[in-house]
Amino acid sequence: MQIYFAPLQGVTDAPFRRLHAARFGGVAKYFTPFISPTQTDNLTNKELRDVFPAENPGLPIVPQILTKEVEYFIHTARVLQNLGWTEVNLNMGCPAGTVTAKGKGAGLLMNLSRLEAFLDGIFARTPLPVSIKMRLGWEKPEEVFPLLELLGRYPVTELILHARTRQQLYGGHPCVGILDEAAKSTHIPLVYNGDLFSSADCLRFAQAHPAFQTVMIGRGLVSDPALAQSVLGGPPLTLGMLRAYHEDLYRYYTAQFNARAALGRMRELGKYVAANFHGAGKPFRQIRKAKTLEAYCDAMKLLFDEYPLHDPPGFVTDGRPAGQAVTDDLREASLIL
Ligand SMILES: Cc1cc2nc3c(=O)[nH]c(=O)nc-3n(C[C@H](O)[C@H](O)[C@H](O)COP(=O)(O)O)c2cc1C
Repeated sequence: MQIYFAPLQGVTDAPFRRLHAARFGGVAKYFTPFISPTQTDNLTNKELRDVFPAENPGLPIVPQILTKEVEYFIHTARVLQNLGWTEVNLNMGCPAGTVTAKGKGAGLLMNLSRLEAFLDGIFARTPLPVSIKMRLGWEKPEEVFPLLELLGRYPVTELILHARTRQQLYGGHPCVGILDEAAKSTHIPLVYNGDLFSSADCLRFAQAHPAFQTVMIGRGLVSDPALAQSVLGGPPLTLGMLRAYHEDLYRYYTAQFNARAALGRMRELGKYVAANFHGAGKPFRQIRKAKTLEAYCDAMKLLFDEYPLHDPPGFVTDGRPAGQAVTDDLREASLIL
């Protein structure tokens, strides 16, 4: 099995990826949060910094683009090629209303003839191989079949399937029942994404769906940074590993960001870290509500000193169903309005 790290806008930026790779293994590719070009001009400073080679030394990075405009895609892919990257990923999965209303992200799944014209344009001129991350469809999972038929006409290097429709947002469960038939209907190498939160989840999925040699994990890996390596037979998460890694992140973000921005970033990360601990509702709430870095550190100290890790390790969403928890995360990150 191969494991990819999913992109999480506002979480898995370049320093996060560097610090993760310095302490943990098992990730074959890190996908960047999307770059959203609004003109055939340079990327924003923030976007550029995130994909700058010096910010990602030696890491297997795949930059992601979110657009519906052929020219913006080609221009951005050229910039990424000049930076030395060898693959680009097209976002056809983002469900945020503000994104889909403009026909981008999962909005591309709404109209097959518009999608065809867009794909014709990008595959005719792309300077880099293109992989795609998408949902099963706009409304119904069965839409995946005509989508796969259309994508099969282009040299898509890899297709990452998040097994929900756009209408599901992140609610309910991924629709895994359709995956094997989908795999049979395409020659494109498929990667599975959605709700893999523990080693057991990953191994169960791999056993049930052998057509998927690769999985992409997001929240599960942000929460348990040792998840990929442990699935592949390496050491599972320990309290010492998690504490040292959290200290790395805290040191970096408090040194590089102002106190307010560092607090926002660490609160976000702290919630994922807390999802590893048994019965940690109290520190979890303190992390969410922390108004100062001191209050945040007190909550994390309580968490690390007083609460045990789940055994075996895994992401638990403070009693909320996983789908609801991720919807809340996205709303907080302003990705769903
Ligand atoms: C806060 C947040 C930000 C996200 N940003 C992106 C993004 O920039 N690009 C993308 O393709 N998916 C994005 N996603 C979706 C994840 O990559 C992934 O598909 C989703 O979390 C489901 O995988 P998981 O169950 O392993 O977490 C985001 C998800 C979250 C929670």
